[in-house]
Amino acid sequence: MTERLRPEETARAAALLRAGALVAFPTETVYGLGADACNGRAVAAVFEAKGRPHFNPLICHYASADAAFADVRPDARARALAATFWPGPLSLVLPRRAECRVDLLASAGLDTLAVRVPAHPLALDLLRRVDRPVAAPSANRSGRVSPTTAEAVLEELGGRIAAVLDGGPCPVGLESTVLDLSGNGAVLLRPGGVPLEAIESVIGPVGRAPPPEAGAAARRAPGLLASHYAPSLPLRLNATSVAPDEALLAFGPPLPGAGAVWSLSDSGDLREAAARLFAGLRWLDAEGARRGLKRIAVMPIPAHGLGLAVNDRLARAAAPRPDDPPAPPDGG
Ligand code: TXA
Ligand code: MG
Repeated sequence: MTERLRPEETARAAALLRAGALVAFPTETVYGLGADACNGRAVAAVFEAKGRPHFNPLICHYASADAAFADVRPDARARALAATFWPGPLSLVLPRRAECRVDLLASAGLDTLAVRVPAHPLALDLLRRVDRPVAAPSANRSGRVSPTTAEAVLEELGGRIAAVLDGGPCPVGLESTVLDLSGNGAVLLRPGGVPLEAIESVIGPVGRAPPPEAGAAARRAPGLLASHYAPSLPLRLNATSVAPDEALLAFGPPLPGAGAVWSLSDSGDLREAAARLFAGLRWLDAEGARRGLKRIAVMPIPAHGLGLAVNDRLARAAAPRPDDPPAPPDGG
């Protein structure tokens, strides 16, 4: 059962997070579903608890800008915004540093990471005690509204997470503004707690991401190209055999004969597979190119639990891209 912790029990919440458990906690915006961002299995458990059918990148929470900027590379704009709005409801998407401690699953395999320093005193106390980045999406089930009280968190996730730290109602009640600073122009990905005008007064004009009304097609293309890691080697899904010129992404006992193998989970554990997916795609892509392999063959992955999100991500990675040469004949 989910423990309901009082503010005096913040040390217990921190210990649970450090042990890899999921703990919801209050921020000034909404309650977050926290996990140790350096622990791939804990991050995978977040997607599982939310029932997310796909892997969205998660915001990482830090006790200070210095701690955040140890994992991502800030430019002058990011430093100015952090100095003005942190702690506060602003998340900055920045390039990951090579030494970034955060598991790739929290970035959904991207080269970027969203970071923020929340303003809630309990959140800051918790983050100082955990002393690691805490990945935290809003603490709701997928497709439902963000919770702003501990009661709402328990309605959403009671029985699915270790604990909720009860800090009363969230003062802002609306999620953070998400600003992408990973390219040359700043892009507003999600309006939120810090108004756009306030951001523009610090760094000048900000571009907008295509709105939802633009329709799936308009959002899909930039989403696929810019927001989702796609390996350069083509993927062949549901492989039941593998050729020597193929790399293999294995689930369960690996098929014999591949040119390179990354095992998602020898035992067929979907949480382990989710935690190892993006690192595996990157490794097979690099290793396959080094060894002159033609494709990445992917063994079938069950479509339940986290398997739904794993399959969604693989289908996106396998989808044809605009500049793709015609698909090679299927190797069988
Ligand atoms: O106020 C908030 O931001 C709350 C509290 C708990 O901090 N968190 C929150 O997280 O709303 P979530 O996961 O529900 O929303 C995160 C948003 C998503 O729209 C996601 O796509 C975007 O941030 N995001 C995160 N990392 C990203 C990245 N590397 N690139 C682009 N977008 C990213
Ligand atoms: Mg959310």
